[in-house]
Amino acid sequence: MHLKDLTDYQLSGKRVMLRADMNVPLRHGIIANTERIDRSLPTIKHILSEGGKIILLSHLGRPQETGKVQAEFSLKPVADYLEEKLNMPILLVEDLEVVKKSNEQFIMVENIRFYKGEKGNDSNLAEKLGSLCDIFVMDAFATSHREHASTTGVVSFVDHACVGFLIREELEALEFIDKAKKPILVILGGAKISTKLSLINALTEKADYLLLGGGIANTCLGSVGVEVGSSLIESSVFTEAKQLVEKDNVLLPDKVLVALNKESDPTEVNVHTLTKEDCIFDVSPEYINSLEHLFTKAETIIWNGPMGLFEEDRFFSGTQAVANLIAGSKAYSVIGGGDTISAAAKAGVLDSINYISTAGGAFLKYLEGKPLPALLALQEKALESSGDGT
Ligand code: 3PG
Repeated sequence: MHLKDLTDYQLSGKRVMLRADMNVPLRHGIIANTERIDRSLPTIKHILSEGGKIILLSHLGRPQETGKVQAEFSLKPVADYLEEKLNMPILLVEDLEVVKKSNEQFIMVENIRFYKGEKGNDSNLAEKLGSLCDIFVMDAFATSHREHASTTGVVSFVDHACVGFLIREELEALEFIDKAKKPILVILGGAKISTKLSLINALTEKADYLLLGGGIANTCLGSVGVEVGSSLIESSVFTEAKQLVEKDNVLLPDKVLVALNKESDPTEVNVHTLTKEDCIFDVSPEYINSLEHLFTKAETIIWNGPMGLFEEDRFFSGTQAVANLIAGSKAYSVIGGGDTISAAAKAGVLDSINYISTAGGAFLKYLEGKPLPALLALQEKALESSGDGT
């Protein structure tokens, strides 16, 4: 892919707009995992050390696009963390007019998803953003699958646009997928199956084994008539889920941890003995451990999505078992996604993983071989400026 790099530009005195992904998990206003911010630091430090002025953009969560700050989605905790890490003041602004007039070295714009037109890739917002900088640097790999004003639209309204160090690193690291050694074991969990269906289908062709957990597994179980009680499922995709269950390389748990609600203690049960009162909150660690031979013989392991409600200690054991088996295997291991990183951190295995992608949805799209709109926009820009595009 032909993309311009940050090192292609002289940054001294330039206004550099950096789109990063600082969409970090917050618990009671405290950042629960700083991986995404930390991985953006090399790009930030380079811009600063070259004398550039930073205008940092990011989203956080999925707030209403009202044009107003919503405290629970404010980037203030991120700005505070960066101030401490970089030992310099950061001006957190809501009003884009202030960005225009300010001469501060480091400005952070409030959650870009507060601004009307961000998600719809509105050209007015994109143009406004473009008018604030001399160079646009895209480093939010985790948001590169979104065609939003701050990830994609803005590129048409700047003279210069390039990728930052994190995107370069992610693209180089994820090239492994085309030459991944077999057997390949893929573990997919998380809440929603609908957003991952086409990927799961694509992976049934590439992977030797596909182990499903979380809401994805619940939906598959429900699709073949297993009683799943009040568990998280998406019945709208039962037809597709049923087709998955029929594939030989798709593995579904035969034992799960159930509870009446997330405040009660779980019991381990066989999936065929579930009742209407049960709610599945985790995959049984015993079931995961019974698959140890697959983790042992795998040459490549890819993991996205926890097995259950891992944030609660009582529903963490299935996810912990997956993390332990990955850490103990000799396979080349790659994990991706905010929740997966948090779960692996909680399990204490981050150091044993070969590559940690900061991206979740974008990571899955990339694995599926689908184009990432933000990167396509940058590629077009690079071709235009090198004269090849006309
Ligand atoms: C992510 O967490 O996957 C990215 O930050 C993108 O967030 P989104 O799914 O809300 O667009």
